[in-house]
Amino acid sequence: MKIIGHRGAAGYVAENTLASLARALELDVDGIEVDVQASRDGEPVVIHDASLERTTNGTGLVSQHSWAQLRLLRTGDGQSIPSLREVLQFVQRRVLLNIEIKARAAVPQAVALVREFRQQQGGNPGEIIFSSFDHGSTDFVRRLDPSVSLALLVQGLPPDEIWNVAARQLAVGVNLDLASVTREFVQLAHARQLQVGVYTVNRKGDADRLRAWQVDAIFSDLPDVVADSR
Ligand code: G3P
Ligand code: CA
Repeated sequence: MKIIGHRGAAGYVAENTLASLARALELDVDGIEVDVQASRDGEPVVIHDASLERTTNGTGLVSQHSWAQLRLLRTGDGQSIPSLREVLQFVQRRVLLNIEIKARAAVPQAVALVREFRQQQGGNPGEIIFSSFDHGSTDFVRRLDPSVSLALLVQGLPPDEIWNVAARQLAVGVNLDLASVTREFVQLAHARQLQVGVYTVNRKGDADRLRAWQVDAIFSDLPDVVADSR
């Protein structure tokens, strides 16, 4: 089971910052998950919320600020908001990168950036997966790039609808929350060749149970706590 650092290593360092990603790498994660909003000028920027207040010293919506304005803001511990371009350059194929699209407006440039990165890396960009709760966004990604890996974030959707959307968009996986996942769901997904990711798993006991259920990946704020210690 892969351990994916959630927003980097959000339990230790300000979420979705390069310092948080660096901490996740130090903790030996298999992958890193980041959230992507769009600036007013369409730059994919790595921040969870649509608004700036919770994690930065800015105010208002991310989408109302240019990238030039956003890059001047600071998180509580003095970090800057990274762009997706900076994150791709920072991770550099070392681990899987899960790009969670939070704003559909970020899709065109995010897909273009990943394509550019792949070309720079000579066709070996490491594993990059796009995901979103908004299946219009995942559909948009798929239409722009038939070859990119997609995972659907699902919340409260009937399983039959999940399987239909996943088949239509050629998704490789489905990600759901810890409270909703069941052993039966994992089996049904695997029967359809879909990988299962579960968020947000911060307790060792939960991680061990999901490992026994053959879950493929967990997203964790505390990647060292949930690592397999056997
Ligand atoms: O991608 C898994 C998880 O991060 C989804 O929820 O709210 O933490 O982005 P959220
Ligand atoms: Ca996320």
